[in-house]
Amino acid sequence: MIISENYSLKQVNTFHIDASARYFTEVNSVDEIIETVSAKLFVNTPKLILGGGSNMLFTKDFDGIVIKNNLKGIELIREDNDYYYVKAAAGEVWHHLVIYCINHNYAGLENLSLIPGNVGASPMQNIGAYGVEIKDVFYELEALHIKEKTTHIFSNADCKFGYRESVFKHEFKNQFIITSVTFRLRKKPDFKTTYGAIEKELEIMGIKKMTIQAISMAVCNIRRSKLPNPDEIGNAGSFFKNPEVTAKNYQELKIKFPEIVGYNLENGNVKLAAGWLIEQCGWKGKRFDDAGVHQFQALVLVNYANATGIELLNLSEKIMLTVKSKFGVNLELEVNII
Ligand code: FAD
Ligand code: EPU
Repeated sequence: MIISENYSLKQVNTFHIDASARYFTEVNSVDEIIETVSAKLFVNTPKLILGGGSNMLFTKDFDGIVIKNNLKGIELIREDNDYYYVKAAAGEVWHHLVIYCINHNYAGLENLSLIPGNVGASPMQNIGAYGVEIKDVFYELEALHIKEKTTHIFSNADCKFGYRESVFKHEFKNQFIITSVTFRLRKKPDFKTTYGAIEKELEIMGIKKMTIQAISMAVCNIRRSKLPNPDEIGNAGSFFKNPEVTAKNYQELKIKFPEIVGYNLENGNVKLAAGWLIEQCGWKGKRFDDAGVHQFQALVLVNYANATGIELLNLSEKIMLTVKSKFGVNLELEVNII
């Protein structure tokens, strides 16, 4: 167990916020996790589990131990007539898993290509993009209870997945370290191409025969065209969730704002495009010192160089106020504030 003290987190969060951790360690096995959380020094110390740091905003130094999950390994654990069951360790880079599955013709993750971060965080907010969420392909996960040091298996139902939600953000918050996730992937692909610009992109690419490789490539092209690369500009993807309103509320908004962008949900409500609401309030491309709103995607806040977490949080609060005042809609944060 190697413990660093007063460790700069700038390189391990994609916002590149220059916060520090009182203690920092990387764990490569479940035994190392147990050793770390059982150490006398750390038993009562606050703990933060870190994956790729792509969904966090540090607004202050972390006065505890940051445990970076580095567990590696991807394996096919079984198959039946219709599915492959693929188990990936929590520290695997998400997109590496996607590529691995595509190369083996395990279908289901292709629409989730190029989402930053690690496998272990994917169930936290039920990551989703281009018409798929991991709940659609999730089989089960293993997690270590931090206090009891016991291993627990969570089924799909146990995780209580919702839009950018799971049980790990609520009743089990900060209680478990996810160590592996098993996905149930199709032998016969079920191509999902109707969402957003996928079909248009496939056409531009000149695709004649549909494959999971082609869908993955189309999704990567679209994402690269509108989302900032965190290696170039600090960000954590969408800062807010897309808000849900009732059909009645949507109709009222549509009368006042005929261009408003909304998608019908199965429960009868409508999900509004928060990026559109924010853009209409004039925020798109705005910059205040090093904190700003991305020029192509108003839902993404960016750190041009040396913004602090507080500056970005303050900016987000101003955005929320103007959206509330213009549309009467409450935005909720998607990013985890530390
Ligand atoms: P981190 O940021 O390290 O952690 C996120 C949360 O999970 C924290 O609360 C952390 O404590 C907890 N956590 C991490 N690992 C574990 C573990 N092993 N056990 C227990 N808790 C853990 N998200 C989407 O859903 N869809 C998108 O399309 C999308 N696009 C993005 C685009 C960009 C450019 C960026 C920067 C981000 C995007 N995101 C998207 C958000 C982000 O990629 C996901 O939320 C991702 O799953 C975060 O993974 P991570 O490993 O970086 O998690
Ligand atoms: N829009 C605007 N202005 C903007 C941004 C978007 O008008 O500045 C409009 C677009 O024109 C489009 C609609 O909003 O009509 C939706 O935009 P987009 O397709 O870019 O998707 P999004 O709703 O902004 C969501 C997810 C993304 C995910 C994409 C693709 C949330 C909070 N965000 O974004 O996830 O990649 O759909 O599925 O649900 C993330 O979670 O970090 C993330 C990037």
